[in-house]
Amino acid sequence: MHSVTKSNEKAESINSTMPANNKERSMMSNQCHSSTYQYSFRIVIKNEISSSTTTASKPDGIEKKKLKSIVNKYLIVDCLKGLKMLPSNSIQCIVTSPPYNKLGLREGSSYSGQIVYDTYDDDMDEHEYKRWQIDLLNEINRILKPNGSLFYNHKDRRYRHRDYPPEEFIIRSDLNLYQTIIWDRSCTANQNAAYFRPNSEKIFWLTKSSRSTVTAPTFYRDRLPECFKSSIWRIPPDRKNKHPAPFPALLAEICILATTDKGDLVLDPFAGSGTTLIAAANLKRSFLGFDISKKYQAMFKHRLATSNSDINMWKEFYVVEKIIDKRLRNGHVEYLLKWKGFDHNQNTVSEEEKY
Ligand SMILES: C[S@@+](CC[C@H](N)C(=O)[O-])C[C@H]1O[C@@H](n2cnc3c(N)ncnc32)[C@H](O)[C@@H]1O
Repeated sequence: MHSVTKSNEKAESINSTMPANNKERSMMSNQCHSSTYQYSFRIVIKNEISSSTTTASKPDGIEKKKLKSIVNKYLIVDCLKGLKMLPSNSIQCIVTSPPYNKLGLREGSSYSGQIVYDTYDDDMDEHEYKRWQIDLLNEINRILKPNGSLFYNHKDRRYRHRDYPPEEFIIRSDLNLYQTIIWDRSCTANQNAAYFRPNSEKIFWLTKSSRSTVTAPTFYRDRLPECFKSSIWRIPPDRKNKHPAPFPALLAEICILATTDKGDLVLDPFAGSGTTLIAAANLKRSFLGFDISKKYQAMFKHRLATSNSDINMWKEFYVVEKIIDKRLRNGHVEYLLKWKGFDHNQNTVSEEEKY
């Protein structure tokens, strides 16, 4: 295992690569304590699959690959480097969840249920982590289509009797915070008696913004089952997935169904086991994923080869159905049948899918 550290890019050069955000600039310069703040972050690479430490380098120096050549692929590449390959205004939907930097926030002290990634140690200096995520979000603001959507899954972390909500850095990015969805996981490994059980995470629905405009995203709420039409989604974690920190396929599917059409391109820059990409493929969307682990890429390939485009979503959906109350459940099953094209009068299922 070795670490790759790069720390020689000045804050000015970062700002020149992406739309300036004055609020962010002044906040960062207050926090950096020095006008010669050195931008740095570290990726610890165990398997030496890539030494792709990336920085906010000149976008002009990187060839903008034709999207066609990288569509429906899972690339082993650093997320920022991957994003910089993409043309502006090219992606309809991104569903992603970064590492949460739990070890870094805790200054390296271990915690119960610690997440151990294959090629990443999740132990950045917290300030660098926030800067990294802001850079990433700003780059996403560039590549999103004007009516596109980013669903960014993160959660409030705790350390030393304090909550660290991700809003602290998200609102300092260029993106527009369109809505916050609460993901009710229904359970938690954290049973600390000193505070309420933290069994939720957040899904930040973020949209493109520029200095002068914020455009409303494409949104098809009518397609969704009733229990996902509100801003609290109850979805149990996927315990079958061998990745250390996956989100459930159903979560990705709801985001994709709500904001894309067949054929649209869906991206996950922290692809992991490829949950977002599988969901996109099952819903007949195109996909693109980045990660730095070949092991996770192999997991994805296996999942793609064995997934059944019709069954996955509904199997997961029925798990949700089981844990909601009976009255609602009946309503949802009714809705589900209607949505799948089931005609009660004729007792048939129409050929045409509704999404
Ligand atoms: C929270 S997991 C995402 C899991 C994914 N949503 C799933 O369902 O499988 C975060 C992922 O980010 C990857 N990662 C960490 N640093 C990265 C980087 N610099 N570029 C791309 N991926 C990175 C890790 O390998 C890990 O798979």
